[in-house]
Amino acid sequence: DMDRFIDDLMKKMTLEEKIGQLNLPVTGEITTGQAKSSNVAKRIRAGEVGGLFNLKGVERIRDVQKQAIEESRLGIPLLFGMDVIHGYETVFPIPLGLSCTWDMEAIEESARIAAIEASADGICWTFSPMVDVSRDARWGRVSEGNGEDPFLGAAIARAMVRGYQGKDMSRNNEIMACVKHFALYGAPEAGRDYNTVDMSHQRMFNEYMLPYQAAVEEGVGSVMASFNEVDGVPATGNKWLMTDVLRKQWGFGGFVVTDYTGITEMTDHGMGDTQAVAALALNAGVDMDMVSDAFTSTLKKSLEEGKVSIKAVDAACRRILEAKYKLGLFDNPYKYCDVTRPKKEVFTKEHRAIARKTASESFVLLKNEGNVLPLAKKGTIAVVGPLADSRSNMPGTWSVAAVMNKYPSLIEGLKDVVGSKARILTAKGSNLMSDAEYEERATMFGRTLHRDNRTDKELLDEALAVAAKSDVIVAALGESSEMSGESSCRTDLGMPDTQRVLLQELLKTGKPVVLVLFTGRPLVLNWEQENVPAILNVWFGGSEAALAIGDVLFGNVTPSGKLTMTFPKNVGQIPLFYNHKNTGRPLAEGKWFQKFRSNYLDVDNEPLYPFGYGLSYTTFSYSDITLDQSSMNINGEITATVTVTNTGKRDGAEVVQLYIRDLVGSVTRPVKELKGFEKIFLKAGEARQVSFKITSDMLKFYNYNLDFVCEPGDFEVMIGTDSRNVNKALFTLH
Ligand code: IFM
Repeated sequence: DMDRFIDDLMKKMTLEEKIGQLNLPVTGEITTGQAKSSNVAKRIRAGEVGGLFNLKGVERIRDVQKQAIEESRLGIPLLFGMDVIHGYETVFPIPLGLSCTWDMEAIEESARIAAIEASADGICWTFSPMVDVSRDARWGRVSEGNGEDPFLGAAIARAMVRGYQGKDMSRNNEIMACVKHFALYGAPEAGRDYNTVDMSHQRMFNEYMLPYQAAVEEGVGSVMASFNEVDGVPATGNKWLMTDVLRKQWGFGGFVVTDYTGITEMTDHGMGDTQAVAALALNAGVDMDMVSDAFTSTLKKSLEEGKVSIKAVDAACRRILEAKYKLGLFDNPYKYCDVTRPKKEVFTKEHRAIARKTASESFVLLKNEGNVLPLAKKGTIAVVGPLADSRSNMPGTWSVAAVMNKYPSLIEGLKDVVGSKARILTAKGSNLMSDAEYEERATMFGRTLHRDNRTDKELLDEALAVAAKSDVIVAALGESSEMSGESSCRTDLGMPDTQRVLLQELLKTGKPVVLVLFTGRPLVLNWEQENVPAILNVWFGGSEAALAIGDVLFGNVTPSGKLTMTFPKNVGQIPLFYNHKNTGRPLAEGKWFQKFRSNYLDVDNEPLYPFGYGLSYTTFSYSDITLDQSSMNINGEITATVTVTNTGKRDGAEVVQLYIRDLVGSVTRPVKELKGFEKIFLKAGEARQVSFKITSDMLKFYNYNLDFVCEPGDFEVMIGTDSRNVNKALFTLH
């Protein structure tokens, strides 16, 4: 049916109309880059536009759709896309935070709710999930990804695609997902955004590709090309990547869109003029040109000159039309334009309650000496810091649909949670950082924290006066939301200077201090780990973050988040990740330095907090691992079991983690790789057996020839509470 319908339609289309389908201008309303598109309305009527992105509001979208349907010659409906990255008006934690829940159901539900709200407001396509594996906290966009692990990243990619697209995108609250940024965008040299990526195919396929492939297997409708080069050719013009790997190897059947001006940026990459790079992109397998107008301005000429074929134009046009067909837009172009929906379905009480719970699951308790936390709901509590009194700072990067003034600030949230039981006093304490210029640079979408004109001393004195009247101090410090995300890379990952001074002075009061740490990336926290009794990492928790922070600080919820990115001890250790290779000169266990081994003179090889790490208000103990057998063949399976006991006084959830090491291989293998996890809830004192089935599929990797194989030999299985604290057992694959 679809094929026949599209055949018939394409027979009626002029070349200009076909090329028009490949064109995705921005409305200019919510800019997520530097370009603006002009004459959009006129071009829609001329049939020269395939879709629009980042236009907000169902009534406006309906009006624009009406123009396309009623005023263009063939009345082909438009796609309406948006960066709905971690929620719509109900905002969930930034993806890095969401990943720390290790809760696939909650993650899927966050995408489901985002799809419901976005579709109620006219959107049928989201530029999410972002699944770029990254090991470099300097890169600002680690906040948008799922951390450093490909196995966890793949599971999250699947959950997100399911959440957005639902069963088959047939319902009007299911939208098309777009996995991005294909490929390897998370590995730019020196952690600098848009920088060169260069890696072996071994590393590419074993350590970076899995999440994109998982999204494709889950049926993702579209893929976004990345800005970076891969093997010396920008991804946007890389035929091997976009056609051989994506379509032929993985069987992707949807369409590829560029990331913003990805086509014309190839000129700066040194690949030729606009006509040349547009042809390169189309011939590589790119279907839709976001913003750069390169297809519309050059493809006709390239056809005449034989630089592209009509077959390639037709194939791209067909893929865009297929997406519209699958979304049901030919049946009903106003499928997503029910103007009565937003009121009932956007930012609802129910969605907010779920976002609050999910946010509380994403927080990672990094330290809790002497059980400072949870706090009692009594007495006087000082809430200080430059991030305490901001509503716009809560959702974090890429919250383009957010309505900041609807979200409680931390102070408002904590007051709501404690009610009249405790008194909350507040003070700013310091500016975000001393260098105003730097602060300005870290601005995106025009949002910055208000800079206080009072002197540092005046700010500090006020905070100390408030602290003096209080029993406990909650310090809301770290990064503002503009300090991570796109084009927000940093080389100094320590606490900004003014905030460190504030923290030092607060600690001198001798009162218990709880650091509520806002951040979009792993920070360097050696000093804080050494000196501050309690540290709760809250990332950017979304619209309900403040209430969720209150829930955790005051013990309504026991924290259970676990890090999905390693926290280094200093920037010089980066890239630092748990699933590294052993080298021929590994450092002996327990040593911090040995001459002529792989290490540094000035810091040990260990992270400050390892992958998988996170404390609770209760404690868990792990039994030794029992294996039901010590060897298996390629068709067999082994069950590894541990008993996990909640040894503390509170109920709580624990993420039980399974790692495997392939001890001998035809190529070198990582010291451990995550291969399974289960989040369990245990009442105080409760014990439970947790079992993982190990199959030979889990032992496969890409060998020297890039065949996906497992090799007979010995394997170490490790189960534990984080990637460092594990129990071990051995088995053999025959
Ligand atoms: O979807 C984004 C992408 O992640 C970064 N560049 C802009 C796109 C559209 O806003």
